[in-house]
Amino acid sequence: MKWSEFFTSSVGKKLVMALSGLFLISFLVVHVGLNACIWANDGGVMFNKAAHFMGSNVVPRILEIGLFAGFLLHIIQGFALEFQNRSKRKMGYQVPMGSKGSKWYSKSMGLLGTLLLLFLIMHISHFWVPSRITGLEEMHIDVTNGSIVSAGAPNAKEYHDLFGRMKAVFTHNPLVVILYILGCISLAWHLLHGFQSAFRTLGVSNFRYIGLIKALGTGFSIIVPLAFAMMPVSFYMGWI
Ligand code: HEM
Repeated sequence: MKWSEFFTSSVGKKLVMALSGLFLISFLVVHVGLNACIWANDGGVMFNKAAHFMGSNVVPRILEIGLFAGFLLHIIQGFALEFQNRSKRKMGYQVPMGSKGSKWYSKSMGLLGTLLLLFLIMHISHFWVPSRITGLEEMHIDVTNGSIVSAGAPNAKEYHDLFGRMKAVFTHNPLVVILYILGCISLAWHLLHGFQSAFRTLGVSNFRYIGLIKALGTGFSIIVPLAFAMMPVSFYMGWI
């Protein structure tokens, strides 16, 4: 079988979904960890410095290209699998499955993935576009003691004020906060099936590990989206 045939086969598509999905899961770990710095209660100094490190170093910038490629691959193959499954479902099964079939969220991966795609388009336009393309306000931080100072002060260094941008996006607009919460709920449902499914595709599903993978997957699918959802909520409620 040629490589091109492999990647368009069902098994090849599932493998691409699993590998790109696990790569995106590792991105979520870094993203949620870095964003958690907003709760440091220091006016955004730690968060802006961490985001600056990610935005200005070569390795994270190269990874960023890989990240967008990973998202594209995952989305394109996801839609291809969804269409393939739909046309198979139209033919129906010979034995009726009743409610014994897969859980609804595993059947709705296409719908949940599409909601996530809409969330991502809104999200990228809120933060990534101003940060990398259209421009952001700057925060000036004294490099000797980490305090916020005015422009031109001795020892002042400029940082993109992504913290200020978050405050502006989330503080005044409850609709945006609700859309972010809905995005995080879609992420949780999508991960609930996707996490375990990726390991099953890679063959790590014998019963010695399946319990551990299920527990890890369920914990991850709840804790990470919940932490993300608490970010807009914290700004809106004035806890930050
Ligand atoms: C809900 C709370 C979230 C907040 C407050 C948040 C915040 C941010 C911020 C501030 C950036 C810009 C980083 C920079 O330009 O340096 C960013 C980038 C990004 N976020 Fe989020 N994010 C959240 C959730 C998510 C989720 C759930 C996903 C994925 C499903 C996601 C995917 C991305 C992507 C792909 C980027 C661009 C990657 C990069 O180049 O850094 N974010 N986010």
